[in-house]
Amino acid sequence: MTQNTLGIDFGTSNSAAGIAVNGKPFLVEIEPGKETVPTAVFFDFEARKTVFGTQANRALVQGLEGRYMRALKSVLGTPLMHENRRFLGETVSFVDIIARFLSRIKTRAEAACYQSFDTAISGRPVHFHSDNATRDAQALTDLTLCYKRAGFKEVDFMFEPEAAALAANPAGDEKTVHLIVDIGGGTSDFTLFRKQPAGIDILASHGVRVGGTNFDRSISFDHVMPEFGRGAKINKAMGAGELTAPNKLFHDLATWQVIPFLYTPETLQEVAYLRQQAVQPAQFDRLHDILENQLGHDVAFAVEAGKIAANKINGQGANINLSIVEKNLQVPLDKGRMASSLMDHMSAIQTGVVDTLKMAAIAPAKVGTVVFVGGSSLMSDVQDLLADIFPDASVHQTEAFTAVVDGLAMAASAHNRG
Ligand SMILES: Nc1ncnc2c1ncn2[C@@H]1O[C@H](COP(=O)(O)OP(=O)(O)OP(=O)(O)O)[C@@H](O)[C@H]1O
Ligand SMILES: [Mg+2]
Repeated sequence: MTQNTLGIDFGTSNSAAGIAVNGKPFLVEIEPGKETVPTAVFFDFEARKTVFGTQANRALVQGLEGRYMRALKSVLGTPLMHENRRFLGETVSFVDIIARFLSRIKTRAEAACYQSFDTAISGRPVHFHSDNATRDAQALTDLTLCYKRAGFKEVDFMFEPEAAALAANPAGDEKTVHLIVDIGGGTSDFTLFRKQPAGIDILASHGVRVGGTNFDRSISFDHVMPEFGRGAKINKAMGAGELTAPNKLFHDLATWQVIPFLYTPETLQEVAYLRQQAVQPAQFDRLHDILENQLGHDVAFAVEAGKIAANKINGQGANINLSIVEKNLQVPLDKGRMASSLMDHMSAIQTGVVDTLKMAAIAPAKVGTVVFVGGSSLMSDVQDLLADIFPDASVHQTEAFTAVVDGLAMAASAHNRG
């Protein structure tokens, strides 16, 4: 029997940790006054140190010289995970970077709980990579290695929506079927369950690799990247005629976890060439500035803030504020423009829900409650979609950012008793 298991929700956008005290989740203040922290890391080149969470975000906003990283979880299972890079005179891989982030959580939890933790119960999406089984399996191997390198002797995993199901307590009897809909930063995860006198009965769990960072990417690619040259005409190097600027660069710049890899002399050279050949170079001037001044994440944050503002129920639309790139540069974003960018993602989420129902052989009309979890479940497009599939179900709104870690904290306590 062990008494030293910590529940950890390592999220694409935010992370949290906790244990159960007297049967109730007790979440660790990973930062003063904060039970959830951004999953972000900043290598500060000037101060020659690595900072995490809110401090990493602050360093980015302050424009300190260094390298910022977010959405690290999306890299799990990909070849980038094991590539070595040099930062602050050290060679590190993404495994090391995630391990350091997890080790920071471990240290804070140990200080807050006056005990050591050598075992973790970690949340995991049902699928890290829903369309690639090899990468999916590799992602779990990678994350296990990260926990070991962070100093945990053992790590057990629990599906994130099943953890949320443990913590959520929707109204209903033992026959009522509930559906967890956890839409986070990187994945959408679903669990169908019934409440039982002791615990819960899980009918099916499933997930797809779609989340808020994908929403950000599509909004950015469709509405922001044209300001930086996407779709612009380029004069052919030889002969007459024009080409369209290649899309890949703009895709990468719109993708949280890939942004740091664009800050290379080769990419700057490519952009300098596009600028030289452009029919109208103004947008490429901006693109060059973004790469030279490493403003890619600032743009991503502006897109995310615009998305959240445009989503507000009574919002008349919002602006994506790009003044960090150029004074007074703004891109309008209303629900209509946003919905057109999110259409494919909504249909992937719909397929995920329908497949979950099929796995349990449950008809939509049999679902009594839809339980929303995760920051992106606050999107009205998501809520409208679920209302269309389950018109008669009641809606249960959890603490969007802590329902998963609450369940992991309870599971950690059960682990200790085991
Ligand atoms: N008010 C809001 N409206 C819409 N989206 C929001 C809101 N607040 C946060 N988000 C989005 O929610 C996402 C983060 O949610 P959450 O913290 O649940 O994800 P996560 O647990 O880190 O990710 P995952 O579980 O997928 O690994 C981000 O994409 C963020 O932009
Ligand atoms: Mg989550």
